Amino acid sequence: MILVTGGTGLVGSYLLYELTRRGHKVKALLRPGKKPYETRKLLSCLSAENEHLSDLVEWVEGDVLDPFSLQQAMQGVDYVYHCAALISFNPRDLGKMIEVNIDGTANVVNACLDNGIKKLCHVSSIASLGQAEKGEIINENTKWKTSRLNSGYAVSKYGGEREVWRGIEEGLDAVIVNPSVIIGAACHPKATNSLFHSIKNFIPFYTTGINGYVDVRDVVQAMVLLMESDISGERFVLNSENLSLREFFGKTAVILGKPYPRVAVNGTLMALIAWLEETRSRVTRSRPLITRENVRAAMSKSSYSAEKFRSAFGFTFTPISGSLTEAFRILGSMKK
Ligand SMILES: NC(=O)c1ccc[n+]([C@@H]2O[C@H](COP(=O)([O-])OP(=O)(O)OC[C@H]3O[C@@H](n4cnc5c(N)ncnc54)[C@H](OP(=O)(O)O)[C@@H]3O)[C@@H](O)[C@H]2O)c1
Repeated sequence: MILVTGGTGLVGSYLLYELTRRGHKVKALLRPGKKPYETRKLLSCLSAENEHLSDLVEWVEGDVLDPFSLQQAMQGVDYVYHCAALISFNPRDLGKMIEVNIDGTANVVNACLDNGIKKLCHVSSIASLGQAEKGEIINENTKWKTSRLNSGYAVSKYGGEREVWRGIEEGLDAVIVNPSVIIGAACHPKATNSLFHSIKNFIPFYTTGINGYVDVRDVVQAMVLLMESDISGERFVLNSENLSLREFFGKTAVILGKPYPRVAVNGTLMALIAWLEETRSRVTRSRPLITRENVRAAMSKSSYSAEKFRSAFGFTFTPISGSLTEAFRILGSMKK
C-alpha cells in the first residue's frame, strides 16, 4: 500500500493517476473539511477510458502538522510519496510556509521512521538548490548559500529537504526530486496553477528572467521510477528546458493563438508596483496580486541541468510546447 500526501495538488493528483493506472493500491491524505471533488474530475479527464481510477483512491483524513493523523494514515503502508507543501511568495505566508514545509516534512519523516516505511519519495524543489554563480548551470551539487535573495519559499523547501537528509542519516530509505517550474493542468487554486491561469492575461509582457520548466507527467514518472529502483539517499533535478520568460510566454501565445510577447517590463518599475500592491493589501487586508518576491523570481536568470536523471534512466523529458498544449487541453476538458 502507498500513501500520497498533497493528493489534491498539482503533483499529487497526477501521481494518483499514475499510481492507480499502474494498478497500485493508494491512500491519499485529505485535510479535514476538504473534498477531493476537483481531483476526481481531473483523474476522469486524464483518461476517459479509465474513469473508474478515482474510485481506487482511498482518501484518509489528516494534516502534515498533525503527527497523530500521519501515524494513523501510515497504518498498513509500505511506501510514501510526500507532495504536500505550501507554495507562496506572499511575505505574510512565511510563518505558515515554514511550519508546513519544514515541521510538516519533519513529521512525515518521523512517521516513516516509526512505521518502518520501506521508502519515501520527497518532492523538494530547485528552490532548495540555492543561487548559481554567474553563468553557472545549477545541478544536484550546487551548494545552498544563505542570501537575502533567497525567497521565503526557498528557505522553507531547503529546511524541509534537510529534514529528509536527517531521516536518511537515521536509517530511512528515501529519494528526493528537485523539479523546476512544473507545467500541468492543476485543479488546485494555488501556486503554479494560478500562475498558469494568469499568464493568459500577462502574455504581451515579459521580463528578462530565465528559468527551468518541466512537465508534471515527467515529474510523476520520474518519482515512480526512482521509487521502483534501488537508488536511495540521492537527489535528482528534474528539468526539461531552460527558457527566458519571453520564450515561455511566446510558446503559450502560439498555443492560445495570441501575439508573441513584445513589451519588456522594467524590473525597477515592477518592484515599485509590487511594493505599492503589498502596501495596498496590508491596508485592505486582502492578498497582493504581485509581491517583491514574485518580481525577484521573474527577473532572476537561472538554468538547471537534469543530466543526472537523464543518464541514470535514459529518460527523455517532454518538450515544454507539448506540456503546455496538453495542460490547456485538460483544463479545457475540465471546464465542460
Ligand atoms: N508547482 C511547481 O511548479 C513546483 C515546482 C517545484 C517543486 N514543487 C513542489 O512540488 C510539491 C507539490 O507542489 P504542487 O504544485 O502540487 O502544490 P499545490 O498544487 O499547491 O498542492 C499542495 C498540496 O499540499 C497540500 N497541503 C498543504 N498544506 C497541507 C497540510 N498542512 N497538510 C496536508 N496537506 C497539505 C494541499 O492540500 P489542500 O488541497 O488541502 O490545500 C495540496 O494537496 C511541493 O512540495 C512543491 O514545493 C512544485
